[in-house]
Amino acid sequence: MKVLNIGSLNIDKTYSVRRFVRPKETIKATKYEEHCGGKGLNQTIALKRAGAKVYHAGMVGKDGQILLDLLRQFGVCTDYIKMIEGTSGHAAIQIDENGENNIIISGGANDHISKEYILSVLEDFEENDILLLQNEITNVNFAIEKAKEKGMVVIFNPSPMNEEVYTYSLQKVDYFLVNEVEAAMLAKMDFLEPEDTIETLKGKFPNAGFVMTMGDRGAWFFQKDILLFHESYRIPVVDTTGAGDTFCGFFIAGLAEGLDWNIILERSSAAAAIAVSRAGAAQSVPCKEEVNTFLEKV
Ligand code: RIB
Repeated sequence: MKVLNIGSLNIDKTYSVRRFVRPKETIKATKYEEHCGGKGLNQTIALKRAGAKVYHAGMVGKDGQILLDLLRQFGVCTDYIKMIEGTSGHAAIQIDENGENNIIISGGANDHISKEYILSVLEDFEENDILLLQNEITNVNFAIEKAKEKGMVVIFNPSPMNEEVYTYSLQKVDYFLVNEVEAAMLAKMDFLEPEDTIETLKGKFPNAGFVMTMGDRGAWFFQKDILLFHESYRIPVVDTTGAGDTFCGFFIAGLAEGLDWNIILERSSAAAAIAVSRAGAAQSVPCKEEVNTFLEKV
């Protein structure tokens, strides 16, 4: 089973700060770094490091060679990625002293994913292959619909969550990967106890599977009669950027491999814990062997 990720590729401009900047305030960063990122790229690298057969499609600008190089360094097939005029997507990320982040993204080349491009990439994939999407590129809904017409398994991480998501053909999504805030928004509820969000989402999307991550408070998987929870592993936090993407990548790799849900949750939680103990997004993702070693020790 092949996994196709049509996803964002960003240059992450990361500012370490004592605390997040407030309105009308100017503060000085204690450190500035540039990393490869984008929810799409991070999830592809996590898939690859977890052992999945993954293909990344997307667009970069003329400054995007660094993104292609990183993917190739990890052994990801980049044949579908197009380099276009203009700049790549980027993210401005503040990391505070607790490793917490806030992120602003600017679309750049990610905003040039056309319907024609999506159709041309999908030609090489077939029934039961997986299509993974996040919400950082254009024409997401078109990709959902066309992949479903081919009988592909559609996995959607509606991040960043916005009003447009409600207009998508969400009933065609097979699996949603959400954090608790995105879950509540998808359920169109104020933030409530996880159990309430879960019940509402099961009612709205009775056939879909859901992964709901809650940072250091664990992660849920639910689908029809299945309801599973896994605690987060405690590990000193350096940078939470990309931890959710790491979880997603390992989760999908486990799904593609046909592993037991409990094992998938355990591995994904361990991979995300290792990722938060390291700086950066894509380069903080551990490989499968590191995850196994970690699990032997806890
Ligand atoms: O999920 C983390 C990612 O969100 C960052 O790498 C940034 O590029 C944004 O897409």
